[in-house]
Amino acid sequence: MAGELPSDLELVHLAEEARADAYTPYSHFAVGAALLCTDGSVYPGCNIENAAYTPSNCAERTAFFQAVREGKRDFSAIAIVGGPEGESVSGRCAPCGVCRQVMMEFCDPVRFRIVLGLGGDKLEVHTLEELLPLGFGPHDLGHEAPGERGCRP
Ligand code: THU
Repeated sequence: MAGELPSDLELVHLAEEARADAYTPYSHFAVGAALLCTDGSVYPGCNIENAAYTPSNCAERTAFFQAVREGKRDFSAIAIVGGPEGESVSGRCAPCGVCRQVMMEFCDPVRFRIVLGLGGDKLEVHTLEELLPLGFGPHDLGHEAPGERGCRP
């Protein structure tokens, strides 16, 4: 979906579509995400659980890892929706701490926007800096953030 940039609400709707693929036999809590790259492409993600529990993957990381696997490094926003499996979204699903840290690896915390779908057409927007204050990232180890390395095709 490269080209025209989706609105925040369109991104939330794409996250809702991705949520339909969630594999959640244990928590029965289905999450969907839609990660917007600066080139306009969008990567969907859903949570994928596991009988051993710890290998479970959140929707946000599913989206990030697929995007990075395809060579993407520059991200502008992610929409997230979640709630009990089989029910429509009716409240906030904020990203877990591990997913916030993965965002910190690839995104400028001041500019990267986290769009939380609240149900219907309601949403709220935060920056990564708001959700992960004083985050530890590549710069703390003397590295440029991936988007600054010019390693995109
Ligand atoms: N989960 C996500 O996928 N993203 C979030 O932002 C919060 C939690 C998943 C993990 C697990 O599969 C289920 O929701 C319940 O924690």
